Amino acid sequence: MFIVLEWTAPLMHNVDELGISVRKSRWGLGIASGLIDRPISSAKSGEVTKKIGLKVREDNLRAVKLYRRKEFLIEGRPSKEMCVGGPYYDELLMGIDLDLAASSNA
Ligand SMILES: CC(C)(COP(=O)(O)OP(=O)(O)OC[C@H]1O[C@@H](n2cnc3c(N)ncnc32)[C@H](O)[C@@H]1OP(=O)(O)O)[C@@H](O)C(=O)NCCC(=O)NCCS
Repeated sequence: MFIVLEWTAPLMHNVDELGISVRKSRWGLGIASGLIDRPISSAKSGEVTKKIGLKVREDNLRAVKLYRRKEFLIEGRPSKEMCVGGPYYDELLMGIDLDLAASSNA
């Protein structure tokens, strides 16, 4: 299991990229859901990160459902971006604008 939230130098850019993977035998137990909360709330309470972004394959419904529940919005859909020895899939670009999220929760 891993979770990565890349903190970046403030002067370079202000978007952190999220990636998460859970061992398959543990899927559906709420592990990803629990793990993802901490880096999101940490980014929300800081001043550097303005946005959390991620990329996910269009047919990864489990991941998309998880991210939507955590308030990520679909911001783009480049076509045929992903292929591993089979059909081509669109990629979903998802993100949370932390300033918007803060103002809508105020
Ligand atoms: C995506 C991933 C991280 C989710 O981990 P997880 O610990 O199983 O996730 P959780 O149990 O916290 O929650 C998954 C959500 O998907 C839902 N779900 C479960 N099975 C599903 C299915 N077959 N189709 C769609 N959604 C499903 C769950 O109900 C849950 O939503 P809910 O809490 O609203 O009910 C895990 O499947 C994984 O590691 N996949 C491989 C790597 C990957 O795809 N990473 C994301 C790429 S950006």
